[in-house]
Amino acid sequence: MAEIFTKIIGTGSYLPEKILTNDDLSKMVDTSDEWIFPRTGIKERHIAREDELTSDLATKAALNALEMANIKPEEIDLIIVATTTPDLTFPSTACRVQANLKCSSAVAFDVQAVCSGFVYALSVADKMIKSSQYKKAIVIGAETLSKIVDWTDRTTCVLFGDGAGAVVLEGVEEKTGILSSIIKSDPTYYDILKTTGGVSLSQNAGFISMEGKEVFKLAVSKMPEVSKDAVEKAGITLHDIDCFIPHQANVRIIDAALKYLDIPEEKTIKTLQNQGNTSAGSIPIALDFAVRNGMLKKSQYALMSAMGGGFTWGAIVFKF
Ligand code: ACO
Repeated sequence: MAEIFTKIIGTGSYLPEKILTNDDLSKMVDTSDEWIFPRTGIKERHIAREDELTSDLATKAALNALEMANIKPEEIDLIIVATTTPDLTFPSTACRVQANLKCSSAVAFDVQAVCSGFVYALSVADKMIKSSQYKKAIVIGAETLSKIVDWTDRTTCVLFGDGAGAVVLEGVEEKTGILSSIIKSDPTYYDILKTTGGVSLSQNAGFISMEGKEVFKLAVSKMPEVSKDAVEKAGITLHDIDCFIPHQANVRIIDAALKYLDIPEEKTIKTLQNQGNTSAGSIPIALDFAVRNGMLKKSQYALMSAMGGGFTWGAIVFKF
């Protein structure tokens, strides 16, 4: 039987309408644009309405990607949603998205790996498509992080935003699409990035808490290392990469990765200035931005790289 490869045939994204600027934040907590922008690269972020759920953002991003792929929802047989902010504790957000999209013949489930969630979900979808049991899939990264941010904590509330991104995947017989994927986790760092509560611990979701400096140190080593390994595993070199799509957490983390990997600035996608860190949403939103703005073209090589709570991290190399 011929080897199957997972090709990305459509991308989409959605950001809530409401925008919260650094100046807006300076009226809520003791902070300023002068503090936030140079340290993070963030100017503003999108915030979901109270009645706007992660599944709503995810559905809009998926519809956007289906339109680009020119695929009908009923053709989809697999839906994976990466999220840390599900609508409900159960059922999964993916099942709600399945209902919204009317993908009656699909199987749907969520993946939780915080900011690495999209890379994890795409890696899982790739394996399922390679098995030949699934032919067309939607993988979504979607978050309403604003609902688990402590808006009185200036050390975290300035960093995060809401949004969703999606890809439509198809199994093909030519060697293209996803060429390598690596996902990793190390619980030694379980406590440096977490929520203060959870269903089992406190019967509520808790708020984001973070040891910023420790997260920063890990991110600048783990993201570049795994990126290099994924490129090697794909059988190409870093110089072959046409488009680098890193997790959008902090511009200084992205710049450190660029330097280590020797990837030019003009090949790197940076969307965090207007979006903040949208966790699992960040990479697919940045990917969609790259595709729609001609920064990633057909047949070019791209590298995605992520890290997040757990500690989790990972990278994917694909030919678009
Ligand atoms: N406005 C003004 N002052 C602030 C703010 C703020 N928003 N936040 C912190 N400060 C103050 C602190 O209280 C501290 O004051 P002090 O010296 O009087 O105690 C001072 O600024 C310096 O604080 P640090 O925490 O040392 O600042 P640092 O230079 O480390 O920058 C930052 C903080 C931007 C959070 C950085 O550590 C960082 O980017 N870390 C990585 C975080 C990250 O990327 N997280 C994403 C992962 S999330 C995920 O994957 C789910």
